[in-house]
Amino acid sequence: MILYAAPMEGITSYIWRRAHSHWYPGIDKYFTPFLTLGKGKGFKTREKSEILPDHNRGLPVVPQILTSRADDFILMGRRIADLGYDEMNLNLGCPSPTVVKKGKGSGFLKDPDTLCRFFEAIFKAGEGLPEKISVKTRLGVEDGCEIRRLIEIYNQFPFSEVIIHARVQKDLYKGAVRMADFRDALKASLHPVVYNGDIFTGADVEKLTDHTGYREAEPSGGQVAVERSPGRCEPDGIMLARGLIANPQLAEMIQTGSRKDILRLKGFHDELADGYEEIMSGDRNALYKMKEIWSYLLLEFPEAKKTGKKIRKSVHLQEYRQIVDEWFLSEAENEY
Ligand SMILES: Cc1cc2nc3c(=O)[nH]c(=O)nc-3n(C[C@H](O)[C@H](O)[C@H](O)COP(=O)(O)O)c2cc1C
Repeated sequence: MILYAAPMEGITSYIWRRAHSHWYPGIDKYFTPFLTLGKGKGFKTREKSEILPDHNRGLPVVPQILTSRADDFILMGRRIADLGYDEMNLNLGCPSPTVVKKGKGSGFLKDPDTLCRFFEAIFKAGEGLPEKISVKTRLGVEDGCEIRRLIEIYNQFPFSEVIIHARVQKDLYKGAVRMADFRDALKASLHPVVYNGDIFTGADVEKLTDHTGYREAEPSGGQVAVERSPGRCEPDGIMLARGLIANPQLAEMIQTGSRKDILRLKGFHDELADGYEEIMSGDRNALYKMKEIWSYLLLEFPEAKKTGKKIRKSVHLQEYRQIVDEWFLSEAENEY
């Protein structure tokens, strides 16, 4: 199974990508959090730093951009190609009200005709852009059936793949994913389709394959035959987001069924904390980053409520490191 690490603003920075790929195998592509153009039509320092080749050496990284202007897309695309990237991704999923209000992210989905003209302009420009252009889309704005019209539009253009977060804008990140609409999209798409939404375990992947892949046919001759439904049934890949932040070993566990390894989690954690401490001014900023990561990591350790509280209350990196070192030690002792 092809597995991607999702773009997550504020979380999947180059520091996270480097630490993750150092400690864990299994990710076929890492997507950057969305990049935008500043007023002077340049990338901001932080965004430049995300796509600097030196910061991503040896990693399969796809820069993601957020815009609703074809000229800005082309400008960003050429810069991204100049840096040596062969793929860029367009964000059509962000549900944040400030983004949506400007008709960007999932806000762009409410106007399919404008979207279509935007695609005409960027594919006409072609030259100097990365060879592959992919989209990350939601199913629509209000209703999952909007994806049918959107897929008709995506089908008209040479996208390298279509990544679908199986929710609509108004769902934000909550509620059940809309599998029936995702299945419709999968069958109708002429492009490779990558699934995204609520994958936290290997069992979630199996459920997804069961739901989208096969149906039981009528028993014949005493045997239950299993056959493919008409049309395409399985996604070409899966994009992992919150599940991978909560359990950085998730891709490996999906691929190999390996057991959770607490010592590796500590190695990954320490490299991440060191990385943030090195690039951020003052330890408060690095601490803030680490607290954000723990809001996900702790989902995997529901019994660690007290430690979670101590981490949240810590005000200095040194104090924080002591708390997590003690916790990792006791977890490792329990495990071995
Ligand atoms: C904190 C946070 C930041 C995110 N940033 C981005 C982003 O920059 N670009 C993007 O396309 N999606 C972004 N997403 C959406 C995720 O990539 C993913 O589509 C979403 O979390 C659903 O997948 P999941 O249910 O596996 O978490 C973000 C989500 C969260 C929670």
